[in-house]
Amino acid sequence: MEVVIVKDAPAGGALVADSIAALLRRKPDALLGVATGSTPLPVYQALAAQVRAGSVDVSRARIAQLDEYVGLPPGHPESYRSVVLREVVEPLGLDEAAFLGPDGSADDVQAACEAYDRALAEAGGVDLQLLGIGTDGHIGFNEPCSSLASRTRIKTLTRQTRADNARFFDSPDQVPHHVITQGIGTILEARHLVLLATGEGKAEAVAQAVEGPVAALVPASALQLHPHVTVIVDEAAAGRLK
Ligand code: F6R
Repeated sequence: MEVVIVKDAPAGGALVADSIAALLRRKPDALLGVATGSTPLPVYQALAAQVRAGSVDVSRARIAQLDEYVGLPPGHPESYRSVVLREVVEPLGLDEAAFLGPDGSADDVQAACEAYDRALAEAGGVDLQLLGIGTDGHIGFNEPCSSLASRTRIKTLTRQTRADNARFFDSPDQVPHHVITQGIGTILEARHLVLLATGEGKAEAVAQAVEGPVAALVPASALQLHPHVTVIVDEAAAGRLK
């Protein structure tokens, strides 16, 4: 695991965007696993700027979603499909057909989860998975005590995560209780994992993930088991590293 400490969130975003651009030069049709939430936004903005400047060609890139709320109507502005369309697919000028994601409004959620794992495998697997980290140490929405071998499945959000995500909704009650998330085992199949964390609020989770024991209580600690992980943290999020 490589840990890179950068000054601030824009610097972290620029570094991850450079890494994605380098991958796309090597492999133009790479499958990029994207996260939602606030942390990755500077990455998507920096990558879109590179596209506008003509320094990277993303026209053959493919996108895969990490997770999705269950039960939001299709097209809801805070469904992760809508967020990825708005923040990644449209700014990069990608075709919606190049975008894979789980169906959070499926009647049979379990079948939708299994179908998504199959779709990822049939697409050749994720080349670079961008991850954020929850204040409780989650990756994707694998909350504490998730199996380290888990596959894509439905999970219940913790009270902490629902409170953390309430800022995206008009009221805290509107945050869904359930999500479909790639499992930890699924995430670990990506060829390169890039965890980005910014801000003091992530410092404890980052320290436990990077320097603590591998434990289901801190799902992000499972990254220690992967052979190619880059953790990019700003100075505030690095504040509790030894
Ligand atoms: C989102 C996701 C989550 C977030 C995490 C941090 O797709 O998988 O694990 O990355 O909750 O969210 P932010 O970046 O908003 O602090």
